[in-house]
Amino acid sequence: MAPTVVVGVGAGIAAYKAAILVRALMRAGVKVHVVPTPRSLDFVGRTTWEGLSGQPVLTGVADLPGADHVELARVAQLIVIAPATADLIARLRSGVADDLLTTSVLAAHCPVLIAPAMHSNMWTNPATQDNVRVLRERGVHVLDPDTGALGSGDSGIGRLVDPETIAKKALELLGRGKVKDSLEAAVKLDAAAKTEQKQALAGARILITAGGTREPIDPVRFIGNCSSGRQGIEIAKAAFAAGAQVTLFASNIESEMLSELDSRIDVVPAPSSIDVEEAVMSRLKDCDALVMAAAIADFKPEAAREDKIKKDPDSTDAPILHLVRTTDILRSVCVSKDRPKVVLGFAAETGTPEDVLNLGTKKALRKGADLLAVNRVGGGAGFGEVDNEVWLLDSAGLMLESTKGSKSRVAQALVSAIGDRLARLSR
Ligand code: CTP
Repeated sequence: MAPTVVVGVGAGIAAYKAAILVRALMRAGVKVHVVPTPRSLDFVGRTTWEGLSGQPVLTGVADLPGADHVELARVAQLIVIAPATADLIARLRSGVADDLLTTSVLAAHCPVLIAPAMHSNMWTNPATQDNVRVLRERGVHVLDPDTGALGSGDSGIGRLVDPETIAKKALELLGRGKVKDSLEAAVKLDAAAKTEQKQALAGARILITAGGTREPIDPVRFIGNCSSGRQGIEIAKAAFAAGAQVTLFASNIESEMLSELDSRIDVVPAPSSIDVEEAVMSRLKDCDALVMAAAIADFKPEAAREDKIKKDPDSTDAPILHLVRTTDILRSVCVSKDRPKVVLGFAAETGTPEDVLNLGTKKALRKGADLLAVNRVGGGAGFGEVDNEVWLLDSAGLMLESTKGSKSRVAQALVSAIGDRLARLSR
């Protein structure tokens, strides 16, 4: 039988990261009951948790249908709380039981793992430190928070540790108990899924757009953007290495970067948005998956001038460009009758990680791609030879996973996700 884990979610800005934890645990074969605190539902709603875990989500003791307020505590082999806010930690320390989560912790005999997240000042406050010390003395496992950017815009200690690290620790704690066998079975299942993934990618026809489009103003000027094409190139390499037949529509990618590609990858230049549109739409029927990694202009000059626009030497006036919208290619593909089996889009967003994720969720719903890789751009993030952090959402905006690291690592994770989808469709 699959082990049962209660994932408690506190009312902190990092609540959305618990979604990655839930996914990771479920991938390892764990049955997850999410128990958010009532106030945490302001950060991530009940529907998201129910959608992710496939289980009803309750917050109060009075909500329990059978009125057995310690049922969850009885069935759970582990309780993990992420994020654990300063307030929640204080309530756990003093044995408060005013909602389903704190009641379950108080009634539980299983191990409890908490991952605190809060502002540095709250974490370093002697009150919190004392609460953490007492909880540790009582056998609660506490993961020290990370240092880095905080939700408040400040920086310091208090960031929730990486959800994958929390999942690893949780599985470690589970593995020590009687559930080792089911975890081993889950590992085997995972290996089987990987094999299916590989088979699905071998020979799959994958189209990838990469780079940044240029919309001509006149013969010497254009409207462009900062995309170098690096992420798309890495996806092409990863897909090719997985055995796929890859076609890359390259929008203004440096030839040196293109030369890194195996000569068996078909590279088709597509400098402007209209070129990308024509190239993609004309080959839709002949592909299994499409990855829209290119930064495609949303606006272009109404008409490119045939001759160079000249300055008037007698005036300081500047020309006014009239721009028009380009086609949203990703959206057109998603509603097309020739839509490939798997469509992966990107969402380049600016702002705090929370803003980025909110915008990404809205975009996932708007675009209708099977997978949307949301990443933060601007201020040195996102473009060029820098590491990337990507949240992968499904078409309903639910978070599937997050990956962080080199663009090559992110590419491998995205190609695996495509392989997963293709494998599921061929079952
Ligand atoms: N995209 C597209 N056609 C466009 C613009 C973007 O197909 N004309 C694709 C991109 O390749 C990417 C996804 O849509 O996969 C999202 O691109 P992004 O620039 O993040 O969003 P936009 O749709 O352009 O919306 P906005 O700029 O308003 O955020």
